Amino acid sequence: MKADYPKDIFSSHNNSLIISIRGYRRHDIEEISLIEKASFTAPWSKEAFIKEIASPYSHAMIAEGVPVNDNGHLSKKAFRDASIVVGYIFFTAILGEAYIKKLAVHPSYRRQGIGCLLLNEVLRLVKKQDIDKVILDCDINNRAAFCLYKKMGFKASSSLYDRGGSNIKNFNIIMSYGGETNGD
Ligand SMILES: CC(C)(COP(=O)(O)OP(=O)(O)OC[C@H]1O[C@@H](n2cnc3c(N)ncnc32)[C@H](O)[C@@H]1OP(=O)(O)O)[C@@H](O)C(=O)NCCC(=O)NCCS
Repeated sequence: MKADYPKDIFSSHNNSLIISIRGYRRHDIEEISLIEKASFTAPWSKEAFIKEIASPYSHAMIAEGVPVNDNGHLSKKAFRDASIVVGYIFFTAILGEAYIKKLAVHPSYRRQGIGCLLLNEVLRLVKKQDIDKVILDCDINNRAAFCLYKKMGFKASSSLYDRGGSNIKNFNIIMSYGGETNGD
């Protein structure tokens, strides 16, 4: 049986985890939902994730972490039971282009390279499908995300758009990786 999410996980400072990237499984949705709510002011609902993953063009990868103690790794059984979802990425791949729709890392495990790992895995997977262009949109005030994408080789287009939905101007910028018409 999968371990319960530790109650104080969002304030946990025990960051000794082994991270692996794997495909999405149905039971991940509860943990995804917790991270989603902690990461976005307008989080997707569980239903939105379920609907998204049901699309034939949609893919999702999970960063899974397992705690290790000072004595070394846990046994394989313990590995399964203690594993927690620490991040996720949802993307679509259609007509030679991939679009990253969601990326989030558990707040307690940020700045440990997990965002890079997830993005790298997507770039590797889409390359195998002969997709050479990956796009996403990023809130210009989201410094962490913007810096991550830049570090991974994404280029920002020159135009901003107001994604609307409130009285406050919320500007997003399209960023792209690869392709013939990479913006600057
Ligand atoms: C954006 C996010 C996914 C980054 O995940 P992460 O696992 O912390 O990222 P990484 O540890 O792989 O960071 C890689 C690089 O991104 C940049 N970066 C990450 N967080 C940063 C921050 N808070 N400030 C500035 N740069 C940051 C750095 O260049 C970093 O490299 P470095 O650590 O060598 O300096 C994470 O902050 C998050 O989940 N945020 C909330 C959800 C969100 O905004 N998602 C993106 C929607 S577009």
